[in-house]
Amino acid sequence: MKMIFDVITLFPELIEGYCELGVVGRAHQKGSIETRCWNPRQYTTDIHHTVDDRPYGGGPGMVMKYQPLKDAFDEIKETRAARGFRIYLSPRGRLLDQQLVQTLSEQSHIVLLCGRYEGVDERIIDSEIDLELSIGDYVLSGGELAANVVIDSVARLLPDVLSNHESFEQDSFSNGLLDCPHYTRPEEINGMRVPDVLLSGNHKNIAKWRTERSIADTQERRPDLWEKLNLHTK
Ligand code: ADE
Repeated sequence: MKMIFDVITLFPELIEGYCELGVVGRAHQKGSIETRCWNPRQYTTDIHHTVDDRPYGGGPGMVMKYQPLKDAFDEIKETRAARGFRIYLSPRGRLLDQQLVQTLSEQSHIVLLCGRYEGVDERIIDSEIDLELSIGDYVLSGGELAANVVIDSVARLLPDVLSNHESFEQDSFSNGLLDCPHYTRPEEINGMRVPDVLLSGNHKNIAKWRTERSIADTQERRPDLWEKLNLHTK
């Protein structure tokens, strides 16, 4: 079944450019996903096509107006004959992790709302949004990069998007651990050698080495992940 991403954005090019290339581009060509952008500016009614306004209470920055966003949601719903699972990208949202990506990949229709400026009128979130989502504790100039992150991380989990040799089972986080290091030819570069075990042809030992490195690297680099994994498996 094809997964649909509708993206409400003032900068469709930022989504379209990303979605043409690489794994996500291939997912489109294969028909595994469909992405369509909806520009709030097209739902403005004044001659200046105003999408934002000054915040009540004063202060810097502008706020995206309710009505063009509401009309975009309504047109998406009419066009698709379905509401879709609606996400607002914002640093105030729930932090995205691989487990949430996995859950989102079970949806068939996701609507991503990208904010610009200081954000959107809170009433659009209160009345239209199912999930407010952050991709990390830092501030972007808009939600478009975050929307691309959602599309990319979800699309690669869908059936037939990755080929066998790209399979996501070995990705970092898919088992709660960081991925192990990887090497390719030549065997030696400036005195740096590929670990002997990887050249040994002994697949049992190779698998053991990879698991041990994953565990050691996770303990050292991400004690928070290691802790979480131990809590879940206890
Ligand atoms: N928009 C601005 N910053 C963001 C973030 N960290 N995550 C998601 N959307 C955002």
